[in-house]
Amino acid sequence: MSAPVRIGAVAEMQAFSRRVRAAGERVGLVPTMGNLHEGHLSLLRLARARCERVVASIFVNPTQFGPDEDYAAYPRTLAADLAALAAVGCDVAFVPEARELYPRGGGGGDDVTVKLAWGQDRLCAARRPGHFDGVLTVVARLFNAVLPDAAWFGQKDAQQALMVRRMTEALRFPVEVRLGPTVREPDGLALSSRNAYLSPTERREATALSRALAAAGAALRSGERDPERLAAAGREVLAAAAGLTTEYFAVVDPETLAPPAAVGDGLLLMAGAARLGRARLIDNQVHRVAGEAVHDALLF
Ligand code: PAJ
Repeated sequence: MSAPVRIGAVAEMQAFSRRVRAAGERVGLVPTMGNLHEGHLSLLRLARARCERVVASIFVNPTQFGPDEDYAAYPRTLAADLAALAAVGCDVAFVPEARELYPRGGGGGDDVTVKLAWGQDRLCAARRPGHFDGVLTVVARLFNAVLPDAAWFGQKDAQQALMVRRMTEALRFPVEVRLGPTVREPDGLALSSRNAYLSPTERREATALSRALAAAGAALRSGERDPERLAAAGREVLAAAAGLTTEYFAVVDPETLAPPAAVGDGLLLMAGAARLGRARLIDNQVHRVAGEAVHDALLF
C-alpha cells in the first residue's frame, strides 16, 4: 500500500477532512504518540474497516508528562512509524509541530486546559497529577484539528478512554469515540512503547501485571464477589515479583472508578500500575458479570 500523505498544518488537515466529508466519506482518527506497535496498528485496522479515510496523528504531547516523567526519553521513531502506517493503509499521518496544537505555548495563563472532574483522584490520575488534563487538552485539539467522524482508543489505557469519552460528550464534539481491545505479547505483557525501557530481566518480571490480572480474574470466575479480596489476589502476585513496585491494583466500577460495595451484574474493571526499572507499566482487564457467568468485555 502507498505511503500516507504527511500533513503538519492544522489548516491543511482540516481542509483534507472537509473534502472527504463533502464527497460523502468518513474520516477515522487514531491519536498516537508514535513509536507505533501492533496495539496502535490494531486500532488503525478498526478505523479502516469503518471509515473510507484514516488519519493517524503522531505527537508526543508535552502537556501530559509530569516534570519528572519521560518526555525527553520517549521513543521517537518517525521513519519506522510512517512505514508501518503505509503497511496498514493509513491515508494521512498528521504530524504537527507543538506550535500548531499549542499556538500559545501550552500551559500558559492565556491558554486553555481541559479538565474533567470525573476520574480525578482515581487510579492513574491519583499518581500522575495533571496527566489527564494534558491528555484531554490535546485530544480536544486533535479533534478540532482533524475533524474526524470517529476516533479509536485502546482499552489498554482504560481510564484515558473513559475520560476521553466523557469529555467528548460534555464538550459536544460530533465525534464517535470507539474502543479497541488490548494487544499483548505471547506471554501476556500488554504492548507499550515504554516496554523498550525494560532490561531483559525486567522484561521477564513484567508479566507479573498480566498474571496479577489473571489471578484476580480467576478468583472472580470461581465466585469471589468481594472487591477487596479480588484486589488482594492480584496484589499478592505483584508483591512476589522481584524489582517491581506496585502503584495500585484495584477492582472498580467503570462508572465511578471506585470499588463497588459488592460485585454485582455488569461491567467490572480490574486495573494495575507498577514501576519496574525505568518503566511505569499499566494494564487492566474488563469483565462482564452476569450471575455466575463472567466474560471478558470491552468498556464500551
Ligand atoms: P499512545 O500511548 O501512543 O497510544 C495511542 C493509542 O494506542 C491509545 O488509545 C492507547 O490506548 C492505544 N494502545 C496503546 N497500547 C495498546 C495495546 N497494547 N493494545 C491496544 N491499544 C493500545 O495514549 C496515548 O498515546 C496518548 O495519551 C494520546 C491519546 C495520543 C494523547 O496524547
